[in-house]
Formats: sequence, C-alpha cells, structure tokens
Amino acid sequence: MCGIVGYVGKRNAVPILIDGLRRLEYRGYDSAGVAVRTPDGAVLLQKRAGRVQGLAEAVGGEGRRLAAARIGIGHTRWATHGSPTDANAHPHADEVQAVAVVHNGIIENHVALRAELEARGHGFRSQTDSEVVAHLIEEALREGCATPGQVGQGGSSADPAEWLRRAVQAAVARLHGSFALVVLWEGAPDVLVGVRNQTPLVYGRGDGEAYLASDVSALVPHTRDVVVLRDGELAEVGPDGLRLFAFDGGALPPRPVEHVPWDAAAAERGGYPHFMLKEIHEQPAALAETLRGRVKAAGPALEQHLDFRTLRALAAAPQVWLLGCGTAHHAALVGRALMESWARVPALADLGSEFRYREPLVAPGAVAVAVSQSGETADTLAALREARGRGALGLAVVNVVGSTIAREADAQLPTLAGPEISVCSTKAYTTQIEALTLLALQVAVLRGSMAAGDVARWAEALGRMPAWAEAALALDPDVAELAGWLAGSDHCFFIGRGLDHAVAMEGQLKLKEISYVHAEAYAAGELKHGTLALVTEGTPVVALFTQPHLAEKMASNVAEVRARGGRVIGVCAEGLRAAAAPVCDHILALPDVPGPLAPAIAAIPLQLLAYHVAVARGADVDKPRNLAKSVTVE
Ligand code: G6P
Repeated sequence: MCGIVGYVGKRNAVPILIDGLRRLEYRGYDSAGVAVRTPDGAVLLQKRAGRVQGLAEAVGGEGRRLAAARIGIGHTRWATHGSPTDANAHPHADEVQAVAVVHNGIIENHVALRAELEARGHGFRSQTDSEVVAHLIEEALREGCATPGQVGQGGSSADPAEWLRRAVQAAVARLHGSFALVVLWEGAPDVLVGVRNQTPLVYGRGDGEAYLASDVSALVPHTRDVVVLRDGELAEVGPDGLRLFAFDGGALPPRPVEHVPWDAAAAERGGYPHFMLKEIHEQPAALAETLRGRVKAAGPALEQHLDFRTLRALAAAPQVWLLGCGTAHHAALVGRALMESWARVPALADLGSEFRYREPLVAPGAVAVAVSQSGETADTLAALREARGRGALGLAVVNVVGSTIAREADAQLPTLAGPEISVCSTKAYTTQIEALTLLALQVAVLRGSMAAGDVARWAEALGRMPAWAEAALALDPDVAELAGWLAGSDHCFFIGRGLDHAVAMEGQLKLKEISYVHAEAYAAGELKHGTLALVTEGTPVVALFTQPHLAEKMASNVAEVRARGGRVIGVCAEGLRAAAAPVCDHILALPDVPGPLAPAIAAIPLQLLAYHVAVARGADVDKPRNLAKSVTVE
C-alpha cells in the first residue's frame, strides 16, 4: 500500500508534492515525507510519523532552501515492516543522502539484502523493507561513478539520467516482491526514475513538467494526460517527457498518453464535511452513469460493451465465480444470487484472500468476475490470476480505469462511480451491485433463461435505480436521529434473509470500520442457532425487510429478538411496513423497490447510519484507524 508521488519541472516542488500526498492519503496515513534536490545539488529530507497535515506544517518551517527545489518525491505510508515512526517514514536515503527513494509494496528478500549490505558497511536507519533499495542504488552509482562530479569518467555516458537509470536497474535486479519506486539522486538535477512491479505507478505529462504518482487522483489538478506504467517497466521522466525501459535495460517504444476524464473538482469534497457523505449523496448520479448506454427498453445492451469472445463465454459458462474483498465481496454476494436466479448458472462468490488457497474447482469454460473499486487490491488480483490460470475467462468490474485488475482481465465492465476518496466504500459498492445486476440480466438473455417480457420489465426497473436512491437519501434526518441513540452502544446486529442478508453484511462492515462499534451480520434464521444468546435488554438490532417473499419469516425472527429485549430498527420497503412495524421499535421506510433490485437501495440508510454514528462518536470518518482504501499487500 502507500501513496507515492514525484515531480520535476519549473515550479516549487514541495507544495505540489504535499498536495499530491493529500490526495493519496486514502492509501495510508501512518507517516508522510518528502525529499527534494536543491539547485545546489543537496538532497534534503523531511519526514515524520502522522498525517500529511503534520508534514505540511513541518516543511512550512523549512523556508527558502526547500522552496528553491524544482524536483522531489513524496510518500504517505501504510505500515507493513516497522512501526509508524519518524525513522520508518519514507523517503529513505543512503548514509550520505545522495539517493532518496519512495516505495509502495513489499521487498520480500529485504532481510537477506540488508544482511548483505550491512556486511559491506552500509548503516541502516529504519526497520523498513524499503531502505535496502536506497543503499543498493547508492552502491550501484558509487561503483559506476563515485560522485556526480565524476559522472562520465570511465563510464559510457556523461548523461546523469543514464547513470541513475542503470543504477536503478542494477538494484531492481536484486529485488523480489512488489514495488513501485520513485528515485531521486543528487547527481541528476532534472530526472526522476520510476519503476513498477505489481504495484501501480502513473506518469503525468505537464508543460515542461513531469509527474509520477500511485494513481491519477494526485495528478488531475495538474494534468489529465497520463501513461499508466506496466509491470516490468522503468520510467525515466523529466521536463522533456517520458522514456520507457525494460528492467533489463532495453528501451521500450513510446506509448501514447491517455486522457483521464476526471477533473480535479470531482476529487474534492464539494462542500460536504466528509468525502464519505459526499460520495453517499453522489449515488443517484453514479448509478445513472453506470447504467448510461448499457440498457435499452427491451433489455440490457452489454453486447455493445463486451467483445464477442466474452459474450460467448458468458453464454456457455458452466460456472461463474465472483471474486472480491471487503465491500466488493458483499456486492459479489448479490451478483452471485442474481446470476443463479436470473441467469440460472451455478455461481459462487469467494473472498479474494481465500480463493487461491483452497484448490478451487474451476470448471473448464468458467467465467471469473473480479469485483474491485480500486482495481489494485492484491488479494483480488491474485484470485483473478488464479482463476485465469485455471482456465477461466477473467472479467473485471472495477471503478479505476487502467488499474491492474482491469488490464489483466480479458474484458471489463467498469462501474462509473467517479473517484471514491473516503476509505469507506459507498458509491463504488452500489454501482458494483448495479453493474453485476445488469450483467446477470445480460447473461439471462444470452442463455435464454428469462422470458422477454420479464427482461424488459427488469430493464425498465433498473432505469429507476437513481430515483429510488434519491428517495433513500431522503431518510437522512430520521437516520441521524436514530444514530444518536446507536452511538451509545458497543454492539449491534444486522439481520436479514436472502439478499437482505448480503446487505446486512455490508451494513455491519460500514458501522464497524468507521464508528468502531462492534457489529455482526446474521442470516435472520440463524440467530436462534446461537447468536440469540447475545441479545439482551436494549441490544440494537437492524432488521432488513425488502424481500416480499421472506417478510413473514423475517417478522418471526425479529419477534424472537424483541422477546429477548432487543431494540429493533426495521429498514423496510414501504409495502412491507405492515409486516415490519409490529415487530420493530423504529421504521425506516424505503420506496417499493422490487426484491432483486433492493440491495443497492437498502444499503443507503445503512451507510448513513454508520456515517452519523461515526460523527457522533467523534471518529475520523474518511480515514478510519488501521485501514487504507487500496490494499496492495496480501
Ligand atoms: C479495503 C477497503 C475496503 C474495500 C476493500 C476492497 O479493505 O478499506 O473498503 O472494500 O479494500 O477494495 P477494492 O478496491 O478491491 O474494491
């Protein structure tokens, strides 16, 4: 994990780096740091434990010397090796501070490399896996040319960029694991070298300026012209642009820049107190965008968006896997159910982090759908690779275009939620459900498992999702009031049957991750097999009633909770109020969304509930403790 950024150009580097780090803070926020090269050739470091704001205050006091720098690198960390201290913060440098490096990923052979470097006299300052990289590069530079002043003497080139590139290549050849790196050297006044191996890195082209960053959200204020690096590529960047090389040194052909459709304003808070609240309220628009052009009156229109090979595979698949982590897994649970009930194809949802360790029986011709907001989650990526390795066709349902999962899959059906900044996923989740619903409907058409009239009915209903989401958002004041009570509790249960159980799982995750209230989701019929023992006087229980065919059974289960003193918030479809109200203490009534389409809509009041409870408890909503938005380690 971690966010990295680099800048070289004609402006003061430090504010650009700090701003980039703020935008990447969702990737980790245990510590932050920058390194710059001053015009007189010194590499200066400033780094500290804590948030980017702390770093910004610290560099503010540094005055003119830092302000003169036109080249630098920055890092915001999610700790893997070594606790979040000042010393373990990136950038890391060699002893004489000739080289500074920022790293995202894990150097798996760092213990052996460190022992080797220490034996050769290198002194280490941190406990990180990353510091070895700075020493390896410094050593390679020293062996090639002792100081920048000596560049060219005895070497093949007087070009500092080439020296640095060769030294980075030599270091990279020693590394095992995943790494995106950006390297700054005192000997190279206007060149940064970036490297990508299994961890994202993007180049941004400016006017006489160049940027490197973990993702485009750090670049959009400056440029929307980008090149996404591929695994095994080294980028030499400077005011003149980008040159790509393979790890073994060979020059690669230039790649055209891509234009990112997001603008900077889309990545800002837009007047809301938190990104999470803004993103919750963006759901009607995100749902509309994800649907645009993909559905017509007679049914889904994905034939125009997926290639023939993918459509043929979906039509014939003996089995569909849906792979994802966290919230994406909860969306996959909904997709799985619809894939079975609508498309009548055996479907399995599995956790990205578990799938490949259980010798999965992937049937020949299976389709594996990787569901991910970031498209970079290491566990989901590994699961996709496993499934493809076992012969499945890989289909990516991702939100970040150009992400690794999107590129490694055989085909993609992007969610079009726009940038999601809050660590807690909201609009990505509901658009994932919508995209998977659309996919299930398309597969039903391809396999002829649904009557034409029903297909048209569901297509029409899908078009109403944005309006239903709008109606669900109108529950906000009622939810906020209930949150005041829930904020005083230490535990909460979420229960539901069928698709409502999948929504309950997402509801409990939202509450736990941002408010730190312990929450559990249960299939309502399972409570009586053990968990009911935990329900006592006043225990908060959120009960979902959106599935008409299960409403009576659900009411019986809620009555069992009530009889033990549980205090129940019923989230019900308006038409099921009569079933829910007699057994609930509070009712949050949703519009009458047909059962199969209800999950995305029913999740909205649960997102709002988690949000308001977190605010009432004074928690850091957008940056919950111990978490990160994009988890690029297994
Ligand atoms: C992290 C985030 C979760 C997210 C999960 C999967 O754990 O904190 O909110 O659901 O990763 O992320 P993805 O980007 O693959 O959807």
